[in-house]
Amino acid sequence: MEAFRHEALQDVGSTNTECLERARAGDPGNLWITATRQTSGRGRRGRVWTSEPGNLYASLLLINPAPMDRIASLPLAVAVGLQAAVSAVMPRDAEPVEVKWPNDILIGRKKTCGILIEGEGLPDGRHALVIGIGINIRHKPETAPYAVTRLEEHGCFITADELFAHLFREMAVVIKIWDEGRGISDITRRWLNVACGVGEKITVNLPDRSLTGRFDGIAADGLLMLNLGGGQIVPIAAGDVFFERTE
Ligand code: BTN
Repeated sequence: MEAFRHEALQDVGSTNTECLERARAGDPGNLWITATRQTSGRGRRGRVWTSEPGNLYASLLLINPAPMDRIASLPLAVAVGLQAAVSAVMPRDAEPVEVKWPNDILIGRKKTCGILIEGEGLPDGRHALVIGIGINIRHKPETAPYAVTRLEEHGCFITADELFAHLFREMAVVIKIWDEGRGISDITRRWLNVACGVGEKITVNLPDRSLTGRFDGIAADGLLMLNLGGGQIVPIAAGDVFFERTE
């Protein structure tokens, strides 16, 4: 694995877009781009990611990161790396930093980090994958469809640059463990160690319906296993998870 590079920018539209543009221009990958502010920050499901200075906005460009049949586990690996980076900077008595399937990071069950992974086939046949990460340090959105928080509310006063140094290091470690998807069982074990709500009753909102059942963990390919009772276990590939206890 080539060493990672880092380019720090001031105002951009979106660090994910910056990475995709570098890929189209021939960048070899393993490039981090950070920005102090984004004017068109993107969240999952077409949502806006409000991006004022003070929070961390970072994207990692990977080129041909793994064969397509092994790529599904990458989001789990990213969540493990991000959880480790945030945990490392929290005060010792802070509420737990947990991963919510598939790859949100929660503190005290409130979302504080989001991950947006975008891919693109390049004209030269290479595949670009961008891992976009937003961490609420000083700001959080005023309205959101889920409970949100920021690091400062939990006693963590850190600059985006300082936090990025942890993220840079932890992601390098976890990408090495992931090993182009060959390290999936190690990643899954680490993910389950920091996961939120395993064994609990959850509701998963899918595009066309909601399902409620027991969160039985994840399969080797990263799918959420939802136990509907009566021996019926449904694998879920994508959806929004809500916990019974807090939401
Ligand atoms: C989510 O909706 O949970 C994902 C949010 C991802 C936000 C980050 S900020 C850096 C990168 N650039 C973007 O435009 N989005 C991601």
